[in-house]
Amino acid sequence: MGKGLRFLGGLDERLIWENDNLASGRNVTALAPCFSGSMPNNNASIIIPTYNERENIPELLERIHRSMGPLGHPFEIVIVDDDSPDETWKVASQQPDGDRVRVIRRQDEKGLATAVLTGIQAANYDIVVVMDADLQHPPEKIPELVSRVQNGADIAIGSRFAEHGALEGFSHLRRLLSKGADLLARTLFREIRSIKDPESGFFAFKKNVIAHANLSPVGYKILLEILIQGDYTTVSEVGYTFDKRENGVSKFGVKNAVDYLHHTWSLFLRSGEFHRFWKFVAVGAVGAILNLAVLYALTELGVFYLVSGVIAIEAGLLSNFFLNRSWTFRDRGTSGLRYALTALYRDHAVRFVGIVINLFILWLLTSIFGLYYLTSQLIGIGVSMVWNYGGNQWWTWESGI
Ligand code: GDD
Ligand code: MN
Repeated sequence: MGKGLRFLGGLDERLIWENDNLASGRNVTALAPCFSGSMPNNNASIIIPTYNERENIPELLERIHRSMGPLGHPFEIVIVDDDSPDETWKVASQQPDGDRVRVIRRQDEKGLATAVLTGIQAANYDIVVVMDADLQHPPEKIPELVSRVQNGADIAIGSRFAEHGALEGFSHLRRLLSKGADLLARTLFREIRSIKDPESGFFAFKKNVIAHANLSPVGYKILLEILIQGDYTTVSEVGYTFDKRENGVSKFGVKNAVDYLHHTWSLFLRSGEFHRFWKFVAVGAVGAILNLAVLYALTELGVFYLVSGVIAIEAGLLSNFFLNRSWTFRDRGTSGLRYALTALYRDHAVRFVGIVINLFILWLLTSIFGLYYLTSQLIGIGVSMVWNYGGNQWWTWESGI
């Protein structure tokens, strides 16, 4: 049993209460106890968050036992229930053949992602599997997820969008929301670019991936949090079909959509990407000052001002390039002449298009929409700056070119 949990006397032994210690401070220190002292092993703890899922519990547990049993490895099931009115916690703790099942009933906190964290803290084994209780995540796929991790992957994701994957159980509206959410995350976080289903709720990972991570998810997307804050090198995806729900209802609602925006924003701040953007802006400001200084100095020395202007622009671009290389994007490991030249060419291409965008907006807003030309230019600068940042982030400083 994980540190910080205590048995509830009287009722079934398998039912455990969460105490204050577990409910607070979800960070490195809070997670630390589950790493110290435990022997490394290749066994799995299956974490299942539940809220009003009593009808699904018997079939869920039966199918997990049927798929995991034949493998012969020890495993455990940790159900984290948020004090469901339908008493899922009670039903779960009273299942036959439930000696591998532990139930945590949280009474002081709600939410899917934090329920999963509570489960991870209580997990006894080194491989953690996370899945839903409603059978939309097929238990028959657990062995494959676990074996991918046992065979070297740090994280294995049950994926609706990988080969052999499918998404049947979402309405048109939910599908659209899900696509929008995915696009937002992909724009903000480079790390998930090659992952097909980073918002999946069905995945397995080595517990040490999050040993030093500061996790603070809000809402549903615990995997996204792990992918961005965790420490890992290999991710593997296993296609599966996300089917329709047979019993009970989805808990997804407007609040979860708002939580998602809140969560991605907080991740953006915590992951350092927000910081990077402001470094880029500061470097741009230095470039602009240098541009003006060179323009002034050369023109005063007698150079025709348009010629000074061209040299000034190039000086600004080079200053941006070198400062971004050694500061803003230093983590991209941009050593070597070939890399530097490729990045230099890419940066120029991006910024050239940026200038065209800037001029186009200046013309559009002034001549077509009748805005004051300085206002138009301010907007033009803003838009081209976002463009330049996007180009630098996604192309110029791409590692491994
Ligand atoms: N403890 C707890 N607390 N569990 C919760 C809560 C909560 O506040 N809200 C939901 N759950 C449990 C449900 O009982 C279910 O077992 C699981 O979390 C998923 O909830 P659903 O409401 O069925 O989610 P969904 O089907 O719409 O979406 C799920 O699948 C997607 C695809 O993998 C989620 O896992 C999504 O995050 C995921 O993208
Ligand atoms: Mn579901």
